[in-house]
This record gives sequence, C-alpha cells and structure tokens, in this order.
Amino acid sequence: MVDLETIVRLAAHRGFIFPGSDIYGGLANSWDYGPLGVELKNNIKQAWWRKFVRNRADVVGIDAALMMNSKVWEASGHLETFNDPLVECKNCHARSRADQVDLQQACSICGEGPDFTEAADFNLMFKTFMGPKQEAAATVYLRPETAQAMFVDFLRVQQSMRMRVPFGIAQIGRAFRNEITPGNFIFRTREFEQMEIEYFVAEKDWEKYFDEWLKLMHDWIKYCGIDEKLVHEKEIADDDLAHYSKRTVDIEFDFPFGRSELYGIAYRTDFDLRKHAEASGKDLQVEDPVSGEKFYPHVVEPTFGTDRTVLAILLSAYHVEDVKGEKRVVMKFKPELAPYQVAVLPLSRKEELAKVAKPVVDDLRKDFSVDYDETQSIGKRYRRQDEIGTPFCVTVDFDSLEDKQVTVRERDSMKQERIEIDKVIEYLKEKIYE
Ligand code: GAP
Repeated sequence: MVDLETIVRLAAHRGFIFPGSDIYGGLANSWDYGPLGVELKNNIKQAWWRKFVRNRADVVGIDAALMMNSKVWEASGHLETFNDPLVECKNCHARSRADQVDLQQACSICGEGPDFTEAADFNLMFKTFMGPKQEAAATVYLRPETAQAMFVDFLRVQQSMRMRVPFGIAQIGRAFRNEITPGNFIFRTREFEQMEIEYFVAEKDWEKYFDEWLKLMHDWIKYCGIDEKLVHEKEIADDDLAHYSKRTVDIEFDFPFGRSELYGIAYRTDFDLRKHAEASGKDLQVEDPVSGEKFYPHVVEPTFGTDRTVLAILLSAYHVEDVKGEKRVVMKFKPELAPYQVAVLPLSRKEELAKVAKPVVDDLRKDFSVDYDETQSIGKRYRRQDEIGTPFCVTVDFDSLEDKQVTVRERDSMKQERIEIDKVIEYLKEKIYE
C-alpha cells in the first residue's frame, strides 16, 4: 500500500486537500478541501444521498442546525459520558490520552519521568456561547455527532411525512470533537463530516435490519471503489460499547498507519428516543397500526465518516505503473466519483482547434464535470489527468477539423478510440454510468 506521505503530497500538489490556515503556519491538524477535493467529496455525498435516501421509499433526509439546545446533550448522555481519560506529564504539562501512553515509560514528548497525573475525564464537545452574554445559561455545544437531530426531530419527520416503522432519517453534515490526538491527515480531525442514518424498527426486528444495513454498508464500500481486501469487520466487546449501544460492529480499513475504524453500525435500542421523551416531556412513541399499542421504535444506526471515505478512496485509487520505462501515477477513481469525468485537450493552442474544442466542452458540461487544458505537451497533460484520476480525455486534433471526430482515451487501459463528435456524449454516458 502507498504510504500516507505520498497521498498527502499528491493531495496538496494536485489541489485535493491543503493544510488549513497554511500561510499562518497551519492550525493543529485542520485541512481544507481544494477544488478537486471538494468535487470528489461532493460526488461521494451525492452518491450516498442518492443510494440511501432518494432511491428508497423508507428513508427521508434532514439538514439540522449544528448548535442545539444544551438539554439535547444532557439527555443523550454526551455531557456526562462523551469523554476521553487524559493524563498530564508533570514535567512538560503535555496532555495525552491515557490509553495511548505507557505510564511506566518516560514522557514521549519531553523525555522526563515517568511522572504522570492520575487519569481525568476530558469532555470532547466544543463549547461556545449563544448571544452576547458569556454565562453558563448561554452555553451551547457544537454537535459531536449528527445523530441527535434525527431523534429530536423524530416526531416532526414521522408525522409530516406520514412515515411508518420501519423507516429511516438520514443526514449529512459536520460534527465537532475536541480530539486530544488528532492526526493521520484527514483520518482524525476536530471538525469532520458524517453521513448517518437512524433506522427506526420494531424491537423484535432489530437483528434482521442490523444484518441488512451491514450488508448495504459493504455494498457502498464496493461501489466507492474502496479496496475490499483491506476492509474488515470488528465486533465491539460489551465493555467497550458506547453508552447507548447494545451491539456495535466497526468496519475497519487497513490504513498505512494501521487497521482503524472506517465506519460503524450500532444497535442503539430505544435509548435515545426514551431519554429525549423523558427529558422533554414529549411523547415520542408511535402506534402499532395493527394492535394500536404505543411503543418506542428501536434504532439501527449505520454511520459513515465522509472524510474517512475520501481517505480510503484516495488510498485505494493510487496506482503506480511502468509504461515503457516511465513511471505513471494514476488515481483509479470510480468514474462517477472522479473530480473531473472528462478532460478536453486540443492538441495545440491554435485558434482553429479551440473553435472545435470549446463547443465540445460546453456540450459535455451539461452532463459531466469537465476540465479544459491546452497548455504543455499532450504527454504531460495526459500525465496530469491520470494523476487527478480523470477517466476520459477527449483530444481534438487537426484531423478533427476534417472528419468531425475526436480521440477518446480511457485512463486505465490508455486505449484510444476515434469517436464522432456528435456521439461523444452518448459514448461517455455509457462508459461512465455503465
Ligand atoms: N452517531 C454515531 C457516531 O458518531 P462514531 O463512531 O463516534 O459514531 C461515526 O463516529 C463515524 O464518524 C466514524 O466511523 C468515523 O468514520 C467518523 N469520525 C469519528 N470521529 C472522527 C474524527 N475525529 N475525524 C474524522 N472522522 C471521524
């Protein structure tokens, strides 16, 4: 597998992902998505939404506020339990996660000791104040997961959309955690995106839906072009389960820094709806259409980190090939997800070629994300397009002026075909969405 430094370098060089606040020396493992990174990430989010929301009659979406009433976090248990145990080196005062420090060894930062404080809980939620007064009553938290809004809005969604159990509420959005040890590029950051579904079921059915969603998560991984050989399931032991979960399976990926969580699926029971009903005084039960009895739906929650999806896709897509003694770096993105699906490359900068190429670009832009590049030699341009993962290059040459055809080059095989200009869109649609 490619090392992380190579991917970080390529991502910065080719406009995928840059260090955040870079000209000021950066900001503690924050990252900005550049022009190609945001295309890739948006394509992932749109594909996810299409697959799990638009194409299903039983799932609807929301887009909730990032800051919620603090009572939400009190009821959900996050204020009390969303903690990591921290130790502090008494010499340099650096704080580290207790489970990541060998307390019998000298401090890895200053080399002194070992001389650590007792482990103390550190709440991972970011706190701020709403309104002009910085007082306890004005405290709000940036959400540490998107999930809670789906529980808080449960009744509104269920009633306004006339949903019947089993059904799901989905959301894509940012979450914030004051992680003690962010790092490994976009793997662990303090601000990240999640794509989550809370799927509400009758208690007796939870195992069936747990298995069903777990399979759908694997289908998604395959769809994304994430290398399935590097993907593993890990059953979380009872004493490691989050406070709300009765069963969790992590889907792990072999990242260059080790096997770590990519996604997770949890059986949250009726914990959240019950807690919010108790705390808010609102009845969050639904009625069984047959017996008429009221009950709290139970929840199966498949959760997908968007940034970890981007990272696993970048790592899986990276290939180096030897082409006639020359190194070719090629990002083999799934065509639907690639930042650019097509690049139009006139063979030279001559006006007469641009006159043919530009209308082709205008036409292609109606259906695809398109790059237009007329600088440098054609070989260098192909190399750049390979490195940013563009699946098809359309070259306009002097013959095109006569025969009204262009050359279409396919990224992975490097095969070239002459296609009539009028048929290019149809040809590419078939190849990209096959
Ligand atoms: N609602 C359940 C929940 O939030 P989680 O396992 O804490 O569960 C879900 O987070 C997903 O969010 C993870 O599987 C991972 O993909 C992503 N994630 C969690 N913390 C992250 C971080 N600090 N940076 C980037 N992604 C993160």
